[in-house]
Amino acid sequence: MNKNKYTLNYQPIEWRDHKVRFLDQTLLPHEETYIETADYMEIATAIKELKVRGAPLIGVAGAYGMALGARQIYARSRAEMLRKLHDIASILKITRPTARNLFWAIERMEKVAKAGKSIEGIIIDLENEAVTIHREEAEATYRLSEYGAGLLPNSATILTHCNTGPLAATGLGTALGVIIYAHRQGKSIKVYADETRPLLQGARLTTWELQKAGIPVTLITDSMAGHFLHQGNIDYVIVGADRIALNGDTANKIGTYSLAVLAKENNVPFYVAAPSSTFDANIKSGEEIIVEIRNAHEVTEIGGVSIVPYGITAVSPAFDVTPAKYITAFITEKGIIKPPFGDLTA
Ligand code: MRU
Repeated sequence: MNKNKYTLNYQPIEWRDHKVRFLDQTLLPHEETYIETADYMEIATAIKELKVRGAPLIGVAGAYGMALGARQIYARSRAEMLRKLHDIASILKITRPTARNLFWAIERMEKVAKAGKSIEGIIIDLENEAVTIHREEAEATYRLSEYGAGLLPNSATILTHCNTGPLAATGLGTALGVIIYAHRQGKSIKVYADETRPLLQGARLTTWELQKAGIPVTLITDSMAGHFLHQGNIDYVIVGADRIALNGDTANKIGTYSLAVLAKENNVPFYVAAPSSTFDANIKSGEEIIVEIRNAHEVTEIGGVSIVPYGITAVSPAFDVTPAKYITAFITEKGIIKPPFGDLTA
């Protein structure tokens, strides 16, 4: 598929004249509001508040945050510039701990900064590097989507979780990229989308993106997935990932582990689609993955409205870790692969 054949009429993030313009995903699907900023702190807040979300997208946003931050620094020397940039990197990194892509992108930006010869040179190099990271991440999604689509027959029903489309990854997306690519190839693809409690990325964002792409989608609650897998309605489960260890253990949106176990029990292939930037060569297994714990209000409220009696406690882990044994294979821009992995980003 020629990538130009699939043109989006929305852009999750853009670099425009030394500013970042991003779509506020917390307002979707009812409002399409873009925010423009030249302030890296606004990018940090947007990542924390999930205005910008999805592992590859927060990597791109983190890179742009570094580029903006470099312009905001007042420094009398190159060394002072690098020190202040390191502080900005730390602020951007603590926004969300689980997605490898954020750390990967910021580490790449810091490396470029250290190689810069002057303050002005560093500012320009960082802008160029952020734009390059964005372009390369988008290109990676087209390649992995093509590999993934190659696994699918002419007709298939796919269950997916959370949101993994262009909104989450730029380009075509990861798991949703595979689906969109196969659909564009003319395959008859039907999708079951989990609503993905607590923040409903499936209900709010995946249905929105699939509707725009013209792909038939049926929304189900997370707790219905086992029923449909058992009934034989689902041919494949395809999800994205936030961090993948060397042994293939995979962190993804909370609820992924239950889906993987249910898929195995029902002999349904379970694929993880992710670019190289999600693979973490520093960790041997999922035991080393830090799972972000978010505010309990995300569980006790829906759309800001309380759904529980006053005083009820709740807990909100944003991700879970699926052991590699439940994953059929990994769909990447380098092909369909299985663990153990080396350093895919080297
Ligand atoms: O908390 P979110 O919305 O950032 O979580 C997103 C996911 O878990 C996605 O499934 C993951 O980032 C892979 S997507 C491209």
